[in-house]
Amino acid sequence: MPLKRSGASFKGLCPFHNEKTPSFHVNPARQIFHCFGCHKGGDVFSFLVEHDKVTFPEALRILGERAGIRLDYESSQNGVGSGQRAAVLKANAFAADFYHRSWLEGAHSAGVRAYVEKRGISAGTAAQFKIGYAPEAWEALLGNARRAGIDDKTLELAGLVSPRSEGHGHYDRFRNRLMFPIWDGRNEVIGFGARTLDGREPKYLNSPETPVFSKGRCLYGLNFARSAAAKTNALAIVEGYTDVVVAHQFGFANVVATLGTALTEEHLRVLRRYGERVYVVYDGDAAGEKAADRSLDLFLRENVELRVVTLPAGLDPDEVLLQRGAEAFQACLDAAKELFDYRLDVAVRRFGAGSLATQAQVIDEILGSLLATTNPVRRDLSVMHVAGALRVDEKTLRLRLRERSAARAALPRPASAAPGTGASAPASGGAPLRASGARLRDPAIEAAEWLIEALLAAPEAIPMVRERVPLEDFPDDGTRRIAGTIFDLADSGHEVTAAAVTTILGDDPLARRVIELADQEFPRERAATRIDESARTLEIVRLKAQAAEHKRRMIVSTDPEEKTRLAMELESIRKAQHEKL
Ligand code: UTP
Ligand code: MN
Repeated sequence: MPLKRSGASFKGLCPFHNEKTPSFHVNPARQIFHCFGCHKGGDVFSFLVEHDKVTFPEALRILGERAGIRLDYESSQNGVGSGQRAAVLKANAFAADFYHRSWLEGAHSAGVRAYVEKRGISAGTAAQFKIGYAPEAWEALLGNARRAGIDDKTLELAGLVSPRSEGHGHYDRFRNRLMFPIWDGRNEVIGFGARTLDGREPKYLNSPETPVFSKGRCLYGLNFARSAAAKTNALAIVEGYTDVVVAHQFGFANVVATLGTALTEEHLRVLRRYGERVYVVYDGDAAGEKAADRSLDLFLRENVELRVVTLPAGLDPDEVLLQRGAEAFQACLDAAKELFDYRLDVAVRRFGAGSLATQAQVIDEILGSLLATTNPVRRDLSVMHVAGALRVDEKTLRLRLRERSAARAALPRPASAAPGTGASAPASGGAPLRASGARLRDPAIEAAEWLIEALLAAPEAIPMVRERVPLEDFPDDGTRRIAGTIFDLADSGHEVTAAAVTTILGDDPLARRVIELADQEFPRERAATRIDESARTLEIVRLKAQAAEHKRRMIVSTDPEEKTRLAMELESIRKAQHEKL
């Protein structure tokens, strides 16, 4: 990152937001950074946490390594010494150089370079991604590495060579393959993906699990996608190595890929650090659709905004880009569907639209996804959305959701709860829903709690929230009192913090709830979205209550004029409600 001296500090373009004139300052004397544009600031540790999206302990370790300070807890944490990790990383870096060199100038690499060119990858892109060639030989890497002083055991640990099954010695794992080095977020080569050049299976051979490489967590291209992701708050996931490489070549710098595995929770945890919105771009074939399907519910459990991108049938992302151009690919991204729309589409396509029986099947499909949505605010909005799209009564949908939730909760029955013992049989109708993790809480209360949590992280939103959600709209006594305390604090010009709120609440058991709600790590940049979503839910709840009250009064009223007025008001309430969706 280029920085220029300016007085006592250095300044440059802020890595956290888009700008043309530098407002990012680093003050060496005070050991801090600050951006006057986006107001991010902190010390070297928070810089790494924010910029490299590492955890605080990781930041400690990285900086410790650079300063020559070894942190002892690491060896026990990973089960491997940091010495071993460093050795494997060094072997990987050597191998990446070796493969790249033999691609550039190796005796038999002209054909391979021609292949890469045919795939539409420019020389510049190939250099950026350090594309390489593993020669058709048993000891090419091995011999070169030995000469460079890297021992066989380290190469084996790095998954670059395998032990011979007969006799001793090792041989190269990757032979006659196109090599894609895989970096972690810190620009260390942690493994390789290797494409066959002669049709030998598998098509892609990856590094095995090593002390530094774990396929289920890794995202190819993340090192190059990081800053673009931070700026756009979005990441796109494709399926293949070449898709990532070509996407970057075409300027889609926030594209990454999983390594032939389904998306895992660990992937999501990584993704979530980089952007709120994730585009899943699967190849335009049936397999891609299935893959998307399986991973969907994972996203529902995380608070990641998912968009599903469907490509023209039969085309991979790289083919869309190379054959139809950047605009065509962008158009696919723009046409991405929200999760529930996509699921509705897929379900309708699978069952065909039309009959009532079909509709019941579609609803059944969707209910699973609704149940998987753990964020109550989001779930509530989705229920309304699905009801609207399928033209079913929202109440019916909620009822079915409850039934499914109760059924799910009742599933893992202990063997002792035999039928006939009476007590364990679910009461018909109003069965309590607290039996398991699948229980459904009152969405309004949860929305209010979400709102409070976000407000504690971003108190500057208080005036706006008060306007949208007056105190009486908080759904229960607890959230109303907490919100009241927050509003009072703001009114009296005090700083609104969880500590201040709990101090005021004193011995009140509510204080505990505030502490639980005050998430230290709640990302400030998510607060706006969160506040908007929660406020919207509460607004809808209020409108619903108003509508119900109007209906009740219409029924009991005997005055025709009043009836008409109520009907008109009801109409506008419904309209307002509709607009909120
Ligand atoms: P694909 O079979 O769709 O390959 O696998 P691709 O990326 O389109 O490959 P090209 O365009 O023919 O070169 C998608 C991804 O699945 C993983 C790789 O990460 C691959 O990029 N994969 C596939 C494997 O790990 N092993 C395999 O044998 C095949
Ligand atoms: Mn492909």
